[in-house]
Amino acid sequence: MKIIILGAPGAGKGTVAKLLCDFDGSIQISTGDILRAAVRAETELGKKAKGYMDRGDLVPDSLIMDIMEARLQEPDCDKGFILDGFPRTINQAEGLKELIKKLNINLDFVVNLEVPRDVILDRLTTRRTCSNPECQEIYNIKSKPPTADGKCEKCGSPVIQRDDETEEAITYRLETYNEKTAPLIGFYESEGSLKNFASVDSKETVEAIKKEL
Ligand code: AP5
Repeated sequence: MKIIILGAPGAGKGTVAKLLCDFDGSIQISTGDILRAAVRAETELGKKAKGYMDRGDLVPDSLIMDIMEARLQEPDCDKGFILDGFPRTINQAEGLKELIKKLNINLDFVVNLEVPRDVILDRLTTRRTCSNPECQEIYNIKSKPPTADGKCEKCGSPVIQRDDETEEAITYRLETYNEKTAPLIGFYESEGSLKNFASVDSKETVEAIKKEL
């Protein structure tokens, strides 16, 4: 499959993307995961991105488009891909449109996850993430806890809270989403490629997406 997943922070984009990868071997391309790995490795990209990410702001479009132009040309993308967290601005969506035309890629459709704000706030404050950059399994102390000693069930690494999970950063990320990313819903609606999914159960959402493929 070749799809985009749109949704507010905490809507479950990463969770749904990982379940879809298990289904048909498509790969998850999460710009958030790529940026967090760069921050941890203290690369030039990571040093540029860290400040924006910690306060819940978007990283500049030019940096993201450079990452995605290179990433979409890697051979594993031939298996299919799920774009998680990209595009995030109208500029990025326009850039992606040009890029996929240039690379001769056809997208199946754009998934929009509609999750109520109170659910989102609860999920973001209770999320935990595997600290191993190769794994990054997503946990939740209420709905999907890690092991009793706080380790990842998949790889055994410590499970941590992300740097952008302070109350202040969460509030700012939600405002940024409303201002800069929510307009993409109208963008893809007018292109005729948007499909809305309103279940708060990720497995149900995945089944509904599979039916649309
Ligand atoms: P990114 O990593 O993309 O964060 P986000 O969009 O804020 O999304 P999240 O990862 O917080 O949430 P999610 O929707 O994936 O939810 P999840 O599945 O984890 O971006 C981080 C930062 O990087 C940005 O702020 C920005 O600075 C930068 N960035 C990234 N991409 C960029 C771009 N394109 N342009 C510019 N800057 C960019 O689920 C959340 C929690 O809920 C988990 O605990 C999970 O277990 C739980 N959960 C999920 N589904 C369910 C369910 N059905 N029932 C119960 N619990 C559930």
